[in-house]
Amino acid sequence: MSNEEKMVNGQWSMVNVKIGIIGSGSMGSGIAQVAATAGHEVYLYDNNPAALTKAREKLLKILNRLVEKGRMTDPEAKAIFGRIYYMDNLSAFGDCGMIIEAIIENLDIKKKVFQNLESIVPEDCILASNTSSLSIASIAGALEKPSRVIGIHFFNPAPLMKLVEIIPAIQTDKNVLDYSKSMIDSWGKLTVLAKDTPGFIVNRIARPFYGESIRILEEGVADVATIDWAMKEIGGFRMGPFELMDYIGNDVNYTVTETVFKAFFYDPRYKPSFTQKRLSEAGYHGRKAGKGYYDYSENAEKRAPNTDKVLGQKIVDRVVVMLINEAIDALFLNIASAEDIETAMTKGVNYPKGLLAWAEGKGLENCLAQLDDLYDLYREDRYRASPLLRKKVKESANNLMI
Ligand SMILES: NC(=O)c1ccc[n+]([C@@H]2O[C@H](COP(=O)([O-])OP(=O)(O)OC[C@H]3O[C@@H](n4cnc5c(N)ncnc54)[C@H](O)[C@@H]3O)[C@@H](O)[C@H]2O)c1
Repeated sequence: MSNEEKMVNGQWSMVNVKIGIIGSGSMGSGIAQVAATAGHEVYLYDNNPAALTKAREKLLKILNRLVEKGRMTDPEAKAIFGRIYYMDNLSAFGDCGMIIEAIIENLDIKKKVFQNLESIVPEDCILASNTSSLSIASIAGALEKPSRVIGIHFFNPAPLMKLVEIIPAIQTDKNVLDYSKSMIDSWGKLTVLAKDTPGFIVNRIARPFYGESIRILEEGVADVATIDWAMKEIGGFRMGPFELMDYIGNDVNYTVTETVFKAFFYDPRYKPSFTQKRLSEAGYHGRKAGKGYYDYSENAEKRAPNTDKVLGQKIVDRVVVMLINEAIDALFLNIASAEDIETAMTKGVNYPKGLLAWAEGKGLENCLAQLDDLYDLYREDRYRASPLLRKKVKESANNLMI
C-alpha cells in the first residue's frame, strides 16, 4: 500500500489495492466475490485446479441469479466476474496489497504458505488469515516480518454474512490493524475486534448452544425435536441446536469443539460430548450424509416435539444462561468490548438478542442464582459463574453495557 493508495481527499482510498486470496473453497471463493464486488482486482489461487474451476462456475451462477433477481445489472455482474483472476501459480501476487488466506485449517500448512508468500509479495503487503481456530500469533511467529500478520475471520457464506472478526496478534502493527479494519469496513462488512484467543468471539461464546443442549439430551430431559422446538419457539433462535449441528456437519462441529477444548488447556467448560463424537465416528454427519440427529431420507418420519411450555422454558433457561455466562466471561477477560460482543452474536450467528442485554433483561441476580444452582447440583467447573457476574451482583449492579 503506497501513500497514494492510502489517502485521496483526506479519505482512505483502497479500491486500487489488489487483493490476493489463497484457497478457492467455500470461504476463499466467497471472500473473492466480496472484494471484487467492492471494486478490487482479485487474484484467487488454489493448488487444486478443480477447486478453481468449481469456484469460477459457482460465482458465474451466483452472479446470474443476482441479475435475474434484479439485484445488479448485467454489466455490473460482468465487471465483478472480470475482476477475479483464477491463478494456478503465485507469480502475480507481487502486485498485491493484501492477502487473505483461506486454505485447509492446518497450522503447519498455513505457516508454509505464508513463508512462501513472504518472498513474493511487497514489503508492506498485509498477510491475513481467515482461520477459525488457530492462533494468529503462531502463524505470525513463523514469519520474518510478523508485524504485518492479522486474523480476518469471515463467516459462511461470506457474501451474505455481515460480520467479520478482526484479530490482531500480539506482534501485529497498529497501522496494519487500522488499515485492515478500514479495508473490510469499505467492503460493507461490520467489523468487530477480538483478542487472539481460541474461537475469537463467536466460536467461543456459542459453544454452550451446542454443548449444553447435548447435555440436556444425554441426561434424558428431552429429545432432539423438543430441544430444537423450545430453542426456536420459546428462545427465539432461528434454528434449533440439533438442526444447526446437522447443517454444519457433526464431524466439523465435533472437530471445532475438540480444538477449542484443547486450546483452552482442557477447561471443562468446553468439554466435548460422546454423543457428538459417536455420531461423527459413525459417519452420521448430518444433512450432507442423509443422517445425523435427524433422518433425512425421503420417507423418514418427522419426530414431533413435546410442546410442554414449562419443560421448554426450562431447556431455554439452561442453555441461555450458559451462553450468557460465556459472554460475560469474554467481557471479563477483555476478549472484546461489550458492544462488539453484542454485535458478534446478533450478526455472526443471528441470535435474537445480544447476550449481555439478555442477561440484564433476566436480571443479573437471577442469572447468577441459576448458574449457582447448576454448579451445586453437578459440582462441575463447567457451571462456574464468571467472576464479573458475581462481582456485579455483589455490587447490586444490573448493567453490563458500559
Ligand atoms: N467453512 C466455514 O464455515 C468457515 C468459516 C470461517 C472460517 N473458515 C476457515 O476458512 C479456511 C478455509 O475453509 P473452507 O471451508 O473454505 O475450506 P474448503 O475446504 O472449502 O477450501 C479450502 C481450499 O484450500 C485449498 N488448499 C488447501 N491447501 C492449499 C495450499 N497449500 N495452497 C493453496 N490452496 C490450498 C483447497 O484445495 C481448497 O480448495 C479454514 O481456515 C477454515 O477454518 C471456514
